[in-house]
Amino acid sequence: MRDAAPQTIYLSDYKPHDYKITHVDLIIDIHASKTIVTASHTLSRHNSKPTDLHLDGEKQELIWIKIDGKNLSPKDYVLTSHSLIISSQVLNTDNFKLEIQSIINPQSNTELEGLYLSNNIYCTQCEAQGFRRITYFIDRPDNMAEYHVTIIGENLEKTPVLLSNGNLIENGINANNRPFAKWHDPFKKPSYLFALVAGDLGCLSDEFITKSGRKIDLKIYVEHGNENASLYAMDCLKRSMKWDEDVYNLEYDLDLFMIVAVSDFNFGAMENKGLNIFNSKYILAEPTTATDIDYEHIEGVVAHEYFHNWTGNRITCRDWFQLCLKEGLTVFRDQSFSADMRSEVTKRIDDVITLRASQFSEDAGPLSHPVRPESFIEINNFYTSTVYEKGAELCRMLHILLGKENFQKGCALYFSRFDGMGVTVEDFIQSMADATQIDLSQFLLWYKQSGTPKIDIQGHFNPETKQYILKLEQSNNDIFNQPKPFIMDIPIKTAFIGHNGQALDVLYHNNYQHEHLLRLKEKSQEFIFDNVSQNCIPSLLRGFSAPVILNSGFYSDADKLLLMQHDTDAFNQYEAAQSIAETIITDFYNQKADEKRVDLFLDGLIKTLENASLDRAFKAYMLGLPSLASMIQKIKQSVPFNIFTARNKLQETITLRLTEHIQFLYQQATLLEPFNPSAHQAASRQLKNICLAYLVKFNQFDLSQLEKSYLSADNMTDKIGILSALSERGGELYTKLMKHLFSEFKNNPLVIDKWFALQARSTHKDVLDDVKNLINHSEFSYTNPNRARSLIGVFLHGNPARFHTPEAYAFAVEQILKLDRINPKTASRMATAFESIIHLDIGIKEAAKNALSELIQSKNISNDVYEIVSKINQNL
Ligand code: BES
Ligand code: ZN
Repeated sequence: MRDAAPQTIYLSDYKPHDYKITHVDLIIDIHASKTIVTASHTLSRHNSKPTDLHLDGEKQELIWIKIDGKNLSPKDYVLTSHSLIISSQVLNTDNFKLEIQSIINPQSNTELEGLYLSNNIYCTQCEAQGFRRITYFIDRPDNMAEYHVTIIGENLEKTPVLLSNGNLIENGINANNRPFAKWHDPFKKPSYLFALVAGDLGCLSDEFITKSGRKIDLKIYVEHGNENASLYAMDCLKRSMKWDEDVYNLEYDLDLFMIVAVSDFNFGAMENKGLNIFNSKYILAEPTTATDIDYEHIEGVVAHEYFHNWTGNRITCRDWFQLCLKEGLTVFRDQSFSADMRSEVTKRIDDVITLRASQFSEDAGPLSHPVRPESFIEINNFYTSTVYEKGAELCRMLHILLGKENFQKGCALYFSRFDGMGVTVEDFIQSMADATQIDLSQFLLWYKQSGTPKIDIQGHFNPETKQYILKLEQSNNDIFNQPKPFIMDIPIKTAFIGHNGQALDVLYHNNYQHEHLLRLKEKSQEFIFDNVSQNCIPSLLRGFSAPVILNSGFYSDADKLLLMQHDTDAFNQYEAAQSIAETIITDFYNQKADEKRVDLFLDGLIKTLENASLDRAFKAYMLGLPSLASMIQKIKQSVPFNIFTARNKLQETITLRLTEHIQFLYQQATLLEPFNPSAHQAASRQLKNICLAYLVKFNQFDLSQLEKSYLSADNMTDKIGILSALSERGGELYTKLMKHLFSEFKNNPLVIDKWFALQARSTHKDVLDDVKNLINHSEFSYTNPNRARSLIGVFLHGNPARFHTPEAYAFAVEQILKLDRINPKTASRMATAFESIIHLDIGIKEAAKNALSELIQSKNISNDVYEIVSKINQNL
């Protein structure tokens, strides 16, 4: 059992620190197990009389402390495992110098927070609270300081490259023949943006000329030999810099921008000022090793971290409750960038699929929390899809409500008002309101309330008055700690489609046009449209204009079919198809089959697939059925495996009834020209691979041909497409080709990760045994987060069909505990897989509860895992 309940932190308890560290001077003398950190800080105090100075600090050995040059003795301070408190008795001036020396151990740091040694590279991860593992500090984002950093490397062989934030001031070899480098970052920053890298790295260089004509040096540091694999990332970086100038009028501020790729990293990437550190997975790409999805992710992540330079770094968060301020806004910006680089519609479909599968389920489960949470135990557990993805949806709604120009104006005011400061969500919303004179007080509630609002629809056409009357009503049953839900301000883009498929123009608020923006601001509200020429069907929530659930019960199957074929909003065409598919899967799950409904769906699908003017990626999405994760939320108290079977049955029906169409599409989408990573080519491969998956799964494909295709494929997307289709059935060819992949790429860890993930995602009946065996594979590792995630993470989160069994739960408990001892941040992410049990059948839920109590009762579990499992357990 745990010794003491961990401490909960509340937003309402926020108060500024009594002191401020304004200047930081660090000397970091690097040795693998004993790195000596000598810090010299300039402090000022705001209060009139001295108070004790509370500093955060963990996992270091304190050597000495000086105030204004005078050594402190142990009676002048209190040292605990997580803090250093210096007595007010020795702090009697308003401004003073604090010097501290301590020793840290990068080599034994398996948590990958603070300074750690990974694959012979020293690197740091300080967000959210890792800086306190480097030195004692006011480690909170409202303490912004100017940094000078001197790094003394181990020796010339091991650490010729020494990097930190800002500009290089000086480098060379010191008297002891060790390399050193001095860096200065002229921009004030919070400690979480500090970074240091030391190692023997290769470098790809380029440059970017800003719109005001400044030349910026761009560098991507990678393991020697990987320079060419970074060319795509470099290109993404330059396009991101240009886009931020064009769209947001934001220019890069330093003269140097560096990225370092490392192989052991807890997250995707980190936006340290001037020195982004990336998981190598989001930098390295070559056609033979990276899939189209990898290329797309690299583009999005490089842009995301670069965009943080303004939304996060120049303007930062006052406290960690405001995390969505930087993350939600930056995700919105990276989504918009990717949409501009690729296709707006398919990017939106893709983002909504992710939102529904992960954020909607989080919001309907035991870990539900508002976009701005009110309390936490471990801040790392709040880097959630609610903060990120729903946070981004809130920015998108603002963009819709204010319009593009006004949104830009609001952002510009926000940047100029708060440059160099740590601010709150209110500050952001107030800037938007002030710049545009639009009232956003009700909109602010979106940040404060959990749960996904549901919207009921009523509507009818009056042929006499030529009016369409639409009545919308909002509700929310997933609120926590609140007696009754707030009424939200919800933008609903709306248009009308006539019964024979025409796009109608209608009159609303003096505008006679096709699409209108409705603002649902009451619990229940009526909208009246005039000059409606004929009876029609409303197309609501176009482009998914708000993160809500529309009650589709209003639409008949025939309505949905009409929208699927004729809606002028492609996103809503997709939605209509999904909605029919969802009903059919639910029918199958309940052992009912409505033949007419199935026929109608297949007719609609044929028309879509035959339509030569439609994008191939769009066709691929139309063929894709609602995910198992999203179906688990729809069918209450379900057995996920049975939903999986019902979903398979619809896949089978599609494949067997549309075999020729699918074969034809497969042929047509097979490219003859050599690979390039363009969105255009990627769309063909996406369509080709979903066709292949269906054909192989239901025996409509000649397997001997498949081996040839595999061996002749010039890119990883096609290889993975073939292997993943085969992984569903197993068998000789699958085993043979998996061996082939493994030996061809045994020296490429990113491909070996895919090899593990393919096996963990397979829905084959023996998958749990396979995964258990793979844990003992010589290439498996608990210390490399990518590897642990590709096997354990993928099985727990990416295989709902096979995860929800007592045996798999027991396996999960064992693995989470093992990982927790090495890397609690990665372990707690895995533990969130249990959140979906709230929706499941009572029998399965019992098994899951037993697994959870085993976790809660284990000795020495981290606060990270404890917070997740205890919250799931409490709120079931
Ligand atoms: N600031 C985060 C990195 C981070 C994540 C720090 C979690 C501490 C805890 C970074 O900007 C980020 O959001 N990275 C994402 C990828 C991004 C494209 C959404 C990540 O690492 O998953
Ligand atoms: Zn981010």
